[in-house]
Amino acid sequence: MTTFKINTSGAECKILVGESIENFTSLVPEHAIVITDENVNRIYGKVWKGFKTIITTPGEKHKTLATLEDIYRQLLDFGVDRSGFILGIGGGIVCDIAGFAASTYMRGIRFGFVPTTLLAQVDASIGGKNGVNFHGFKNMAGTFSQPNFILSDPEVLKTLPAEELSNGFAEIVKHALIADAEMFDFIEENAENMLQLNPEVINHLIKRSVEIKSGIVNRDEKEKGERRILNFGHTFGHAIEKVSGISHGKAVALGSVIAGKLSVQRNYMNEKDLNRIIKLLECLELPIKFQGNKNEVLDALFKDKKREQDAIFFVLLQGIGRAFVEKIMVEELKQLNF
Ligand SMILES: NC(=O)c1ccc[n+]([C@@H]2O[C@H](COP(=O)([O-])OP(=O)(O)OC[C@H]3O[C@@H](n4cnc5c(N)ncnc54)[C@H](O)[C@@H]3O)[C@@H](O)[C@H]2O)c1
Ligand SMILES: [Zn+2]
Repeated sequence: MTTFKINTSGAECKILVGESIENFTSLVPEHAIVITDENVNRIYGKVWKGFKTIITTPGEKHKTLATLEDIYRQLLDFGVDRSGFILGIGGGIVCDIAGFAASTYMRGIRFGFVPTTLLAQVDASIGGKNGVNFHGFKNMAGTFSQPNFILSDPEVLKTLPAEELSNGFAEIVKHALIADAEMFDFIEENAENMLQLNPEVINHLIKRSVEIKSGIVNRDEKEKGERRILNFGHTFGHAIEKVSGISHGKAVALGSVIAGKLSVQRNYMNEKDLNRIIKLLECLELPIKFQGNKNEVLDALFKDKKREQDAIFFVLLQGIGRAFVEKIMVEELKQLNF
């Protein structure tokens, strides 16, 4: 088990990686309210037996103001006041909703997270962003607000469907690609152990991911500059996800290959690094070649919010472990072979 602290805009957050989910009790007051979803509650609910619990319906379409309102109502029914504490236990959706509820209920009460998907452990629970969707727009309403702690237990990943695991793998590879060449070597050496959910390997990757993401967020909390590199693979990734309906992780893997190709085309990265990236994604059972309609992807891409007139902010690589942002003209993207 590793414990460390991260700091964002003065708020301290305790990170526990490899800690048993059962030990959350030592981190929260007795009157803490658990927010979780139906799936997670069905599998692990006995762990928080005795705690007042709010159970949400899983799925992105329930990440809404209506769900938030329902949560406020239940918090009031439970008599929660400003001394209250909310513990979000679940995937990224639960973390986003619970974090938003806690940071707005009575102008903000304390909260913590036990992320139970790999994506939430390596990405969604970190950085202090939370929110809900509105009228089909993702994360339209939300706040920046840090939890008191994040407890990640790799054991809970054993009940996760394969597709959910691969969502986390794609973000782990992203962290290595943008910031840590050694982590990339480690993943190459341990890809098989990763797929088998070897706890030591997974714990190391969660820890590095937390350090990398929180480091970047810390230096750029409100997404003015450096934080943009966390979007590596996501510009094309989001467009592909939208038009093809494939999972987030698969789309990000495809987006990462495309960003890698563009980096080679512009002579920032050598072909050898690109081939290593492709091989690693394949080892992790992630796709590397987009099979659908490219024009649809480009259409979706040009509607992207990061577009500035005829150019798009794009995250490129100078090599494995070194990312930077560059404006790319729409015309060049149209010519791209992917
Ligand atoms: N705030 C941020 O910085 C940030 C970053 C990335 C993603 N996100 C958000 O995260 C969300 C996606 O999160 P996600 O990928 O974790 O999806 P999710 O929360 O929908 O969880 C995936 C599925 O797995 C189930 N589940 C969770 N833990 C389980 C376990 N241990 N065993 C079995 N089933 C389990 C859930 O009930 C759900 O059906 C999106 O809404 C996205 O916007 C937020
Ligand atoms: Zn992502």
